[in-house]
Amino acid sequence: MGIFISVEGIEGCGKTTQIKLLSSYFEKRKLPCRVTREPGGTRVGEEIRRIFLHSDNREIIPLTELLLVTASRVQHVNEIIIPALDRNRIVVCDRFFDATVAYQGYAGGIPLSLIYRCHELFLNSIKPDLTILFNCSVEAGLERSRNRNKKMGIEKQEGRFEEKTLKFHEKVRRGYMDIAEKEQGRFRIIDAEKSIESIHDELCLIITEKLKEKGYAV
Ligand SMILES: Nc1ncnc2c1ncn2[C@@H]1O[C@H](COP(=O)(O)OP(=O)(O)OP(=O)(O)O)[C@@H](O)[C@H]1O
Ligand SMILES: [Mg+2]
Repeated sequence: MGIFISVEGIEGCGKTTQIKLLSSYFEKRKLPCRVTREPGGTRVGEEIRRIFLHSDNREIIPLTELLLVTASRVQHVNEIIIPALDRNRIVVCDRFFDATVAYQGYAGGIPLSLIYRCHELFLNSIKPDLTILFNCSVEAGLERSRNRNKKMGIEKQEGRFEEKTLKFHEKVRRGYMDIAEKEQGRFRIIDAEKSIESIHDELCLIITEKLKEKGYAV
């Protein structure tokens, strides 16, 4: 029945960088893996992602964000995640439901009970088996992500959240830590201010342990 891993943390903490490295690690070991992301992961979801992240769409309010990202997730879970798990894939998702709780809940001000209710109603409260949380200071994360966006020329296309205040991002960071504290069995927190290589090593150790626990030969 596969294994579902989500990767979380504020902008620029290194999620996508580490998922790429992890995916090569799996490939080398011939472990069947499916990397995906949210919002997005499906054709329709990627269109929602474009609306969600474009900095021209500043007027989007948190409730609209919740609905957009939930629509993207419903499509994603049904079209990609569940079928991949049914085919015994290791599914690695770049952000999932915890991001909604942290961004739209803790930072956006939507009551957490409404967000959980929405997840229950439309997604049967599906949860990852393991969630990796990269923790770094808001200053470090934002500097990295703004530099990356500039270098890649995607400041407008993907920059809506980068434009929000430090205070907003601090609420996201604290929100994530709070969620992790409440669900210690599912979360592993990694210090994201270390080097890319040492984070990769730590991540591989955590994942290998989880795979063994799930009966994979690693
Ligand atoms: N441990 C690290 N130390 C220094 N720089 C890093 C580290 N990890 C990633 N970076 C760099 O920081 C930038 C942001 O990394 P990345 O895109 O992986 O972050 P992200 O968490 O996926 O961000 P976003 O939430 O915006 O998608 C990239 O340019 C990447 O090369
Ligand atoms: Mg990323």
